[in-house]
Amino acid sequence: MNLPHIPPYKTKVVEPVYFRTKAERAAKIKEVNYNLFNLHSDWVIVDLMTDSGTGAMSEQQWAEIMLGDESYAGSESYFKLKRSVKDIMDFEYLAPTHQGRAAENILFSAVVKDGDVVPGNAHFDTTKGHIEFRKAEAIDCTIDAAFDTGTYHPFKGNINLDKLESVILKYGKDRIPFINITVTCNTVGGQPVSLANIKSTCQLAQKYGIPVYMDIARYAENAYFIKIREAAYKDWTIAEIVKEMFKEVAVVWMSSKKDGLVNIGGFIALNDAELYEKLGQFTIIYEGFLTYGGMSGRAMGALAVGLREGIEFDYLNDRVKQVQYLAEKLKTYNIPIQEPVGGHAIYIDAKKMLPHIPQTEYPAQLLGVEMYIEGGVRGVEIGTLLADRDPLTGKDRLPEMELLRLAIPRRVYSRNHMDYIAATLANVAARSKDIKAGFTIKKQAAILRHFTVELEKI
Ligand code: F0G
Repeated sequence: MNLPHIPPYKTKVVEPVYFRTKAERAAKIKEVNYNLFNLHSDWVIVDLMTDSGTGAMSEQQWAEIMLGDESYAGSESYFKLKRSVKDIMDFEYLAPTHQGRAAENILFSAVVKDGDVVPGNAHFDTTKGHIEFRKAEAIDCTIDAAFDTGTYHPFKGNINLDKLESVILKYGKDRIPFINITVTCNTVGGQPVSLANIKSTCQLAQKYGIPVYMDIARYAENAYFIKIREAAYKDWTIAEIVKEMFKEVAVVWMSSKKDGLVNIGGFIALNDAELYEKLGQFTIIYEGFLTYGGMSGRAMGALAVGLREGIEFDYLNDRVKQVQYLAEKLKTYNIPIQEPVGGHAIYIDAKKMLPHIPQTEYPAQLLGVEMYIEGGVRGVEIGTLLADRDPLTGKDRLPEMELLRLAIPRRVYSRNHMDYIAATLANVAARSKDIKAGFTIKKQAAILRHFTVELEKI
């Protein structure tokens, strides 16, 4: 008999989960105006709102917490982190920040100016926000296959080089401070970018004298997909693939809350001494002194270890396989999901699951609320609420897709939890015809309304 797959870790510390009845959850979600962000976490049984900062740390990371050096300047924990970044990524200079968007704030303060354009594969919301905040434009050059959920493509995060070159020719080198590659590409579903595509993008960039920067929140998951799906690299180690991914990249920035396996933190890493010096001025005014930049010593120590653990093959294999296990399970219950599934999350197609609910009644939010009531599982809406209103007309923008994202925290849940999530959705699907109507908005903020919106049942 083949032995079943098990995770490469076991439990040492446990966190309680509280069970309530469906009726109690239905009353609670109504009380908080059907906004899943308003729930206290002890009302949630399986929390799939994000994989960001929600992972479990290892015993080595917790041990490093005790060794944290909280010196204002020259902390030993900073140098431990610097050594990890140098060993894994081969960058000399390191600017820690409190999380990913803070790294964007510092980096873009130094290099992005009014009228610039930043082409790349689909930029993450905060990346785009920090570009647009500086009156520059983020131009999406992802391959078309990324937006076609019906077709299989192993690297849906890839950049379309023709689109990229036409952007370069249209705007010219002087208006393009850098080309941005996000690995994996969160916005199109945690989809990886191939090494061949990274290399071609760098070559094209070099031809025009433009640097390539990388948003590496989920770089280790990307490296895993390269090993599994890109034949030329099947015998390479994850560590070797990572080095190859970054070889021609000028700057990387990271939200360490993902593949850094920590609860908070981020950084910018680079080899350009002059740019590093420029970043330092912004680090000091926005984050803190150069050797901590918004992170405590212990948090830097935990990250120094987390980065090393995050590129271990057995860990990554377990991680990605767990996401794939849930996807397979959902498919056996005919739950419509986006394919192929990426590294960190599964996206449920709410239009297919609740076809009788018009988009103007927020079907993905409705599905999220029903999933919560059914089993206490919390996801996040990626649909009309998130898309917000057209700034000119004030009317809702209706995006092509109404998705419910289930992001899986790292090293937190077991296969039992995956079975539980799938059963919860199967039960919602079984009674979907009885879900008669969605929501109207009672109250909403001027921007980023999804965080605080108050809804009412129709
Ligand atoms: N870049 C990517 C690709 C991200 O996914 C995120 C965050 C950030 C940058 C910003 O980093 O949150 O540390 O400031 N993504 C989270 C998510 C919020 O739920 O996908 P941050």
